[in-house]
Amino acid sequence: MSSASSNVFLSDIDKERFGIQTARVVGVTIESLPSILEFCRKEQVKLLIARCSMSDLKIAQTMEKKGFLLMDTLVYYTLDLTKRKIPSDNGTAHFRPIRAGEEEEMVSVATESFRGYFGHYHADPRLDNNKCDEVYVDWARKACASRGSDENFLVAEIEGRIVAFGVFRINSPDEGELFLGGIHPDFQGQGIYLSFLCRAMEWCLSKNTRRIVISTQLNNIAVQKVLTRFGFEISRGYYTYHKWFD
Ligand SMILES: CC(C)(COP(=O)(O)OP(=O)(O)OC[C@H]1O[C@@H](n2cnc3c(N)ncnc32)[C@H](O)[C@@H]1OP(=O)(O)O)[C@@H](O)C(=O)NCCC(=O)NCCS
Repeated sequence: MSSASSNVFLSDIDKERFGIQTARVVGVTIESLPSILEFCRKEQVKLLIARCSMSDLKIAQTMEKKGFLLMDTLVYYTLDLTKRKIPSDNGTAHFRPIRAGEEEEMVSVATESFRGYFGHYHADPRLDNNKCDEVYVDWARKACASRGSDENFLVAEIEGRIVAFGVFRINSPDEGELFLGGIHPDFQGQGIYLSFLCRAMEWCLSKNTRRIVISTQLNNIAVQKVLTRFGFEISRGYYTYHKWFD
C-alpha cells in the first residue's frame, strides 16, 4: 500500500518487528506532507518514519511543529573513483567472499558490532532496544542470503576467525556503494574498516562504476574520520523523524 502523491508506504518489515502499523517516506516536502498525514490517518498508522532533506529547514521545522521528533541525521559521502587512486593497505586481516555455512558466524559479528547502534530506531525510546538491534542483523542476514555470484559480500578473517563483514552493491551504472559493514568490537580501532573501504573501491572499479557512495549517521565519527581521510566528500543528507499517532 502506498500513496501516489508521495512515496509513503506501509512497512511490513517494521510492522512484523515492532508489532505496530508503520509507514515510511523519504523526501518529505511542504507540498507532500498533507497527503502523507492523510495516508497515515486512512491506514491507521501508529508510527511514521519520515526523512526530509537536511537542506530544507522549512519542512523540518514544519514537521517539528506537528510533533515529529528528530531521531538521526543520515549523511551521504561520495568519492570520484576516476580521480583517486586506491591507497595502499597494509592491514593484517584477510578479505574474501563469505562461504556457504558461514552465515551464523557472520551473524554473530553483525550482532556484536551493531548492539546499541545509534541509528533512528535506537534513538526512539518507545521502541524495544533488543528489537532495534535486530534491524541491522536482519539486513546483514538478508544481504547474505541474496548475495549474487559477484563477490559482493566479503568477510575479514584473522587467524581463522571472521571478525568483520562488508556488503557492496550497485545503485546505477555509475555508482557503487559500501552498503553495510560491521567490525566485531574486539577488533575495532585496528584499521579494518579502512581496509574494507579499499576492497569496496576495488570492487566498484571492477564493476566500472565511476563513483562510490557511503551513508552513515552524522554521529558516527569513526566512519567519517576514515571517509574524510580517503577524500570522500559529503554530497547530501536527511533528517530522520519519527511521528507517533496516539
Ligand atoms: C565504525 C566502524 C566500522 C569503524 O571500524 P574500525 O575498523 O574500528 O575503524 P578504524 O580502525 O579504521 O578506525 C577509524 C578511526 O575511528 C576511531 N574510532 C573508532 N571508534 C570510535 C568511536 N567510537 N568514536 C570515535 N572515534 C572512533 C579510531 O580510533 C580511528 O581513528 P584514529 O585513526 O584517529 O585512531 C566500527 O567501529 C563498527 O563496526 N562500528 C559498528 C557498526 C558501524 O558503525 N558500521 C558502519 C555503519 S555506516
